[in-house]
Amino acid sequence: MGRDPNQLSAAAGAPLRGRLKPPGDKSISHRALILGLLSVGETAIEGLLEGDDILHTAGACRALGATVARQGEGRWRVKGCGIGSLLEPRETLDFGNSGTGMRLMMGVVGGHALTARFDGDASLRKRPMRRILDPLILMGAEALSEAAGGCCPVTLKGSGEPAPIHYSPPVASAQIKSAVLLAGLNSPGRTIVTETEASRDHTEKMLKHFGAAIEVEPQGAHGRKIMLEGRPDLRPAPVIVPADPSSAAFPLVAATIAPGSEIVIEAMMMNPLRTGLLTTLLEMGADVEVLDRRIEGGEEVGDLRVRAAALRGVDVPAARAPSMIDEYPILAVAAAFAFGETRMRGLGELRVKESDRLAAVVAGLRQAGVETDIIGDDLIVNGCGGQVEGGGLVTTHLDHRIAMSFLCLGLASRRPMSIDDASMIATSFPAFRTQMERLGARFS
Ligand code: S3P
Repeated sequence: MGRDPNQLSAAAGAPLRGRLKPPGDKSISHRALILGLLSVGETAIEGLLEGDDILHTAGACRALGATVARQGEGRWRVKGCGIGSLLEPRETLDFGNSGTGMRLMMGVVGGHALTARFDGDASLRKRPMRRILDPLILMGAEALSEAAGGCCPVTLKGSGEPAPIHYSPPVASAQIKSAVLLAGLNSPGRTIVTETEASRDHTEKMLKHFGAAIEVEPQGAHGRKIMLEGRPDLRPAPVIVPADPSSAAFPLVAATIAPGSEIVIEAMMMNPLRTGLLTTLLEMGADVEVLDRRIEGGEEVGDLRVRAAALRGVDVPAARAPSMIDEYPILAVAAAFAFGETRMRGLGELRVKESDRLAAVVAGLRQAGVETDIIGDDLIVNGCGGQVEGGGLVTTHLDHRIAMSFLCLGLASRRPMSIDDASMIATSFPAFRTQMERLGARFS
């Protein structure tokens, strides 16, 4: 019997050498399309991530009335309808694998006099949507139907006069914050979100860039209070999307663990709410130099020179989780190659990502011969001191980051590592294989 065509294997051998520019940031790409939809006129976007997640958001923007056109690689134009003037979609809004696309768009629909049905793939159908529906219902929206446990498919009837609320999300989540702010755009009053741990601030920054009246104040030790005046006239503003630190994470760790490697990762976004992995790797002894820090498209970016290095285990505080929430699977791979134990604290949210990432990481690492455990919400990895055995087939559960993480492990382990399904990598990093192969990675 032949091998399943979606399987992919990675083998060690060659060091990684050369330069690579990761794809555009996924979070910013979703928001650029959505704010384009909510502005009157034409928004020009450069460097848009052309991954499946973003293409689904582009489709939803079209269904709500925008004209969305691709003009060249990463160059897109969105002709929006403006706040309060969206169309009711005729068909189900399909978000594929994308929790961010679905949750942000629920915010948009929740604040408009529209009814829309939201659905996605088998992974998205398991993810909690109550956390988004709850504040939207407070604002006047109604969930006309939903699957058990508040999962999609969900039919949401928005309110054309959303109540201005003051909301404190029960978990640190940029998606919840953003959904409330996007619904609040059509509110006749002031919407306030208070978060106890600051999460990524791309929605706030981009709303300001498009002309909204939005203020942000520090709140407590690590939190923020965000205040948005409703019904602004959003003006189309050009968006330049910086390279995604959550995608850069894979070559960054691969070059750190594959002996003899030296690569440069170009123009990675250095927003401090996204660079927790870099902070942690530096604490572990990684050899990373940030060259040429500069501002591009309103975000700080830098080129990272990464050389292979011996790592040591560290204790990663729970307070750092929001700034590296998507990077724990690849950090766990780095920890597997370190000397000593790494403890990553406060990872309960990983259970409700594209897969149960705590379970998937533990299963994959054990497959590769690495001792690992979950205690409460903490992940513990007992590092193998540079020599990971590898081997075997990892189940990726429709999760792009589990797929890329274990391929990176295979680039430095004694035995090749295989994954059951590489197809989901296209959701966030379609050129992962070709870009990594250009650096010398061995996939087959
Ligand atoms: C995202 C926020 C994070 C992250 C996701 C993208 C965003 O989710 O995991 O990949 O763009 O707002 P939470 O806000 O739910 O933690």
